[in-house]
Amino acid sequence: MRDLKGLILSGGKGTRLRPITHTSAKQLVPVANKPVLFYGIEAMAESGIAEIGIIVAPETGNEIREAVGDGARFGVSITYIDQAEPLGLAHAVLTAEPFLGDSPFVMYLGDNLLQGGISDLVEAFRTSSPDALILLTPVPDPQNYGVAELRDGAVQRLVEKPAKPATDLALVGVYMFTPPIHAATRAIKPSERGELEITDAIQYLVDQGKRVEPHIVRGWWKDTGRLDDMLEANRLVLDTITERIEGELIDSHTEGRVVIEAGARLERSTVRGPAIIGAGADLVDCYIGPYSAVGDRCRIQNAEIENSILLADSSVVGLERRMQGSLLGKNVMIGRDDGQPRAYRFMIGDNSEVWIP
Ligand code: TTP
Repeated sequence: MRDLKGLILSGGKGTRLRPITHTSAKQLVPVANKPVLFYGIEAMAESGIAEIGIIVAPETGNEIREAVGDGARFGVSITYIDQAEPLGLAHAVLTAEPFLGDSPFVMYLGDNLLQGGISDLVEAFRTSSPDALILLTPVPDPQNYGVAELRDGAVQRLVEKPAKPATDLALVGVYMFTPPIHAATRAIKPSERGELEITDAIQYLVDQGKRVEPHIVRGWWKDTGRLDDMLEANRLVLDTITERIEGELIDSHTEGRVVIEAGARLERSTVRGPAIIGAGADLVDCYIGPYSAVGDRCRIQNAEIENSILLADSSVVGLERRMQGSLLGKNVMIGRDDGQPRAYRFMIGDNSEVWIP
C-alpha cells in the first residue's frame, strides 16, 4: 500500500457548541488543557503518517493555522485545505481530493477523541488492504448516529440517524479510505439536510461491490460536539494524567493526580485531582475539585470549581456556591459586586447560558 496520508476535518459550523463557536473553533477547545484537535494530529503522527491535510472553514481557518502551524512541532507536514461551506463530511473529502491524489488515507473528525490512538487500526488497514475500513462502537442510542449493518464480516448497509436502528453499531469519527472513495463523493447527491453524507459515499462503495471492513473499537471514543460530551472527554483524559507539580504552592495542597504547570501560583487553596491548572494561573482561597481543567493565566479567588473547563485568561471571583459542569470561554469574567442594590449583572454574548441556584 502506498504511503498513507491523513485528512483531519476541522471546519464545520459547531452550532451545538455555541456561544464558544461564535468566536472560536470548537476543535481548539481544550480537553485537559490541550486543544482537542491536537490529540488527532498526535494520533496520526504516532501511527507513522507524515503528511496531513486539515480542512478549515473561512471563519476559523486562521485561528487553526495559527494554533497548529506547519506541523513541525508534531513531526508532520501540514497542508491547510479551505472548504468554503460546510457541505458535509463527503464534501470535505471532495474538497481535499487534489491534496489526497491517489493515496490511501485516514480521515479523522477534528472534534473527536479516540482512546489508544489509531496505530492498531492503521496497521490493520495496511495488512488487510480493504477498499475502506470503518470504525464502529456499540452505543445505547444508535438513532443519533450513522449505524452499520454487517453481513459475513463486511459492511452491508449504513443508515444515517435511523428512526428504527437495525443494530447498535455506531460509526466512529475515524475512517480509512482508498482512491475509489473519490468516485463515490462525486456520484452521491446531497441528503435532506443538504449535506454530502459520508455514510452515503461508503454505501456507494458497498453497492459497487467494494470491500468495506468494519473494525469494532474497544476503548472509548468521544465526539466533543456538545457541552456534556466535551466535559466527559475532559474527565476521560484527566483520568489518565500523572501527577506533576511545577507551580508554586503557598499554604496550599493537592490531593491525588494533579498537574500544576510552571508559573502557576496557589495560595490557601486545595486542588483535588484529577485536575490540571495551567501556566501562570493565580488561585487564592479556592477549592478546585476533580475533573477541572483551569486554563493558562486564569485568576480564581474565593471560589469552588468542579468538573469544569476554563479557557485561558478567565477570572472567577467570590462565588457563594460551587461552580460545576461549566465551560468558560477565553477571557470570561465572573465576579462579585458587594455594593447596593444587591443584583445580578450580566454582559453575555449570543446563545450563552447562565444557571443560578
Ligand atoms: P459535525 O460536528 O458533524 O458538524 P458541525 O461542526 O457543523 O457541528 P454542529 O452539528 O454542532 O453544527 O462535524 C464533525 C467534524 O467535521 C467537525 O470537526 C467539523 C468537521 N466538518 C468539516 O470540516 N466540514 C463539514 O462540511 C462538516 C459538516 C463538518
